[in-house]
Amino acid sequence: KKSKVVVDKEFILGEVDRRIYGSFIEHLGRAVYEGIYQPESPFADEQGMRRDVIELIRQLNVPVVRYPGGNFVSGYHWEDGVGEKEKRPSRVDLAWGTIETNQFGLNEFMDWAKKAGTEAMMAVNLGTRGIEDARNIVEYCNVPGGTLYSDLRKSHGYDAPHNIKLWCLGNEMDGPWQMGHKTAEEYGRIAAEAGRIMKMTDPSIELVACGSSSYGMKSFGYWEDTVLQECYEQVDYLSLHQYYGNRDNNTPEFLANTVALDQFIASVVSICDGVRARKKQKKYINLSLDEWNVWYHSNEQDKKVERWSKVPHQLEDVYNFEDALLVAGMMITVLRHADRVKVACLAQLVNVIAPIMTSDTAAWKQTIYYPFELISNYGRGRVLHTLVQSPVYESAHGNAPFLDCVMTMDEEKETLAVFAVNKSLDEEMELTCDLRQFEGYQVKKHVVLTHEDVKAENTEEHPDTVVPRENGKSSLENGVLTAYLPDKSFHMILLQ
Ligand code: AHR
Repeated sequence: KKSKVVVDKEFILGEVDRRIYGSFIEHLGRAVYEGIYQPESPFADEQGMRRDVIELIRQLNVPVVRYPGGNFVSGYHWEDGVGEKEKRPSRVDLAWGTIETNQFGLNEFMDWAKKAGTEAMMAVNLGTRGIEDARNIVEYCNVPGGTLYSDLRKSHGYDAPHNIKLWCLGNEMDGPWQMGHKTAEEYGRIAAEAGRIMKMTDPSIELVACGSSSYGMKSFGYWEDTVLQECYEQVDYLSLHQYYGNRDNNTPEFLANTVALDQFIASVVSICDGVRARKKQKKYINLSLDEWNVWYHSNEQDKKVERWSKVPHQLEDVYNFEDALLVAGMMITVLRHADRVKVACLAQLVNVIAPIMTSDTAAWKQTIYYPFELISNYGRGRVLHTLVQSPVYESAHGNAPFLDCVMTMDEEKETLAVFAVNKSLDEEMELTCDLRQFEGYQVKKHVVLTHEDVKAENTEEHPDTVVPRENGKSSLENGVLTAYLPDKSFHMILLQ
């Protein structure tokens, strides 16, 4: 197959907001306990944080991590997780049917975030709680001192404020499964009032209102429109969440989900701008894709989880090579909307639908770790409008291109990065791109992630089954880049 990519140095889509390489840690399964925090582990530091996991997260270069949920946050009392550990109560977590011991909480998370080289994106409980709690937690975290909650923080050993800049106004409030689920009108009002009082407490914060839990929600569209009608003035971002699965074992259809994601993002942008026009507003509402990933492998197993257990194995998807291809394609899709998607969180980060897994004896990288690592590290700077001329195939979402591709340009480093997925399961693709404008550039690196078996996995015993290799075939001659993309493969081509 042959494809052509067209870019122009002056034709810039937007800056890459580094927060699109965010992730997510929820109090769920073994994400916190046994994931990032395990005091009894030989890998733990003096605070009980797993050093080996921190090291893998640092390599991923994740600038922001959403916390503490997810569905969990909709029943959470953050006060249970601060202060002396011996006095912290255990509680039932109704979201996941488990017991939460609260031995890890807000302050431990902030300490951990520093060590992992990341920042917090904090969610407030707008399920079982409301605007009073939302204002108290902002006061606890961000007010320097001299007030009830800021002094409480100081008494817990945190003299300086945490200064958390990005806040989620609840989680998936459109979902009937959510504790304190609301109608769009109810949620829009509470988001507006919680948001207003939170910004009164700290005017420097930014707020994310809940959009839809997936494109497939019946209320999609109506929800976004109604919520923004109520809270447009108070918020900065609207969220969207999307997970995909290959339940029918149909790989081409599974990989075509990038088309669905593209449509989802474009639709949310349209609704935001529709409300903007109706309200004659100047400001734009941008998007926070604050949960996205592949999630389905663990669904059956999770039905067997014993109720009220502590730290069970939950949502422990073991990812395969085709999942890595879709993750790459989803990241490329997000980059292609970099003008409006300013935050995105791979859900999640450790053990729970995660790129990193742990046991008592090791931490290892799942297949999906690699596209995330490569795009997060090299996809910085500005995104070029990337016109892709590729053969297509029919899918449930319409015509799907065999090639997913985007290019970024880092002016500081004087580099150009090409990210590409060849979705064809049996044919190599020749990709060409006229780069005469980038005089003097050469191919510096061409990293390939491929495997003959789309179902190949990385496990503790075999952690290196699917790994990237710097052995791609490409050249830049007479200003034209020609790259050969083997069937089913992901590529990061760096030019300088
Ligand atoms: O990430 C797992 C769960 O998926 C989150 O708790 C919830 O927000 C979503 O439904």
